Amino acid sequence: MKVAIGCDHAGYELKDHLIAVLKEGGVEINDHGTNGPDSVDYPDFGHAVCSEVEAGEVDFGILICGTANGMAMTANKHAGIRCGLCWTPEIASLTKQHNNANVIALPARFLSLDEGLNITKAYMEATYEGGRHQKRIDKIAC
Ligand code: RB5
Repeated sequence: MKVAIGCDHAGYELKDHLIAVLKEGGVEINDHGTNGPDSVDYPDFGHAVCSEVEAGEVDFGILICGTANGMAMTANKHAGIRCGLCWTPEIASLTKQHNNANVIALPARFLSLDEGLNITKAYMEATYEGGRHQKRIDKIAC
C-alpha cells in the first residue's frame, strides 16, 4: 500500500507520528511536508497530495491542518477527490464505507497523536459498501 501525506505547521507532529507507525506496518509513504513549525499555507501541501491521489500514484491521501477544514476545502476542489473530515474512528470508517473517500483530513489541534492514529487505522480498515451509496456519490459532482 502506498499513501501520500501532507500537512501545514499545525500538523507536522501528527504527520511524523503517522508516518513512523504506518512505515513500521509496511506502508510506503510519499511525504509532501511540511516538516516543522514555521508558518505555511495549507493549500500548497493539500494540492500536492491530491494531485498524486488523482493521478493514481497512491492508494489514498492523508491531510492534516489545525481544524482540517482548510485541507478538506482544498481537497474537495479536485474533481477526482472525495475528502472527508474525520475526527473520530467511527466517522473515519463511515467516510470510507459510505462516501468512498480517497483522502481523509485530520484536525491536529483537536486530536492526540494516538487519536489521530486510531482514526487513520479505522479508515484504512474499512471497506466501501457500494450499492445505494454509489448512486449518491454519482450525484456529488456539479
Ligand atoms: C493555521 O493556523 C490554521 O488556520 C490551519 O491549520 C487550519 O486550521 C486551516 O483550516
